[in-house]
Amino acid sequence: MGHDIHYFNEVDSTNEVAKYLAEEGAEDGTVVVAEIQNKGKGRRGKTWISPPGGIWMSVILRPEIPPHRASQLTLVTGVVVAKTIKEELNIDVGIKWPNDILIGKKKVCGILTEVNATLDKVNYLVVGIGIDMNVDVPMLPSDLQKGATSLKNELNTEINGALLVQRFLQNFENIYNDFKDGKFPEILDEWRAMSSTIGTSVEVRTRGKRVQGYAVGINKEGILIIEMEDGSLRKMISGECLHLNK
Ligand code: BTN
Repeated sequence: MGHDIHYFNEVDSTNEVAKYLAEEGAEDGTVVVAEIQNKGKGRRGKTWISPPGGIWMSVILRPEIPPHRASQLTLVTGVVVAKTIKEELNIDVGIKWPNDILIGKKKVCGILTEVNATLDKVNYLVVGIGIDMNVDVPMLPSDLQKGATSLKNELNTEINGALLVQRFLQNFENIYNDFKDGKFPEILDEWRAMSSTIGTSVEVRTRGKRVQGYAVGINKEGILIIEMEDGSLRKMISGECLHLNK
């Protein structure tokens, strides 16, 4: 992982660069990093504000899996980021399903996975990771400030980005190899242990639908299980999750 790192001062989006490189045949584990993104992409078509000081990075993955397993790599990446921040900086982080890394209730990292697949197999995935590392939260647009934090803001000191990225790539390599060796259940155990979603009331929004209930767990495929008010269970593969204060 990261044996082939493409570093840029400025790009539109590292995910877009990574997709281009993947189409050109870039190998499993190729990494794209940029100082600044001009058109950083968030989930659901949102813009991802990417000033200097953040870690804006995309990883090309070519696991041999069917398309329905692609979303598992988002959970795997969440474990890698959460673990890296915990180990390197000793900050207690939580994972909000499916892919936000939180400190307290505030978001410090988002993950955007894009998949290129045929009906029966994944050709490649681009997993984009945006970590607000040395970003000054007051410099972010005002509507984002309330829900966002940065590692620098939490620790009141500048973080060494090179060390953090190095540790991240090392953890990614180990955990991704475990994934390829069939150890997704064990990775999910780590995900569960760091989850701030399981055991809370949630509202999950998927394409116009809203499901409210209690997040009881995540099953062995990585699907979130929600208990509805009438006691029935709903399975959520993807969506946007709000933690409700109930
Ligand atoms: C989210 O909405 O939470 C996902 C944000 C993902 C942002 C990262 S930054 C690096 C990569 N390149 C992009 O354009 N987006 C992802």
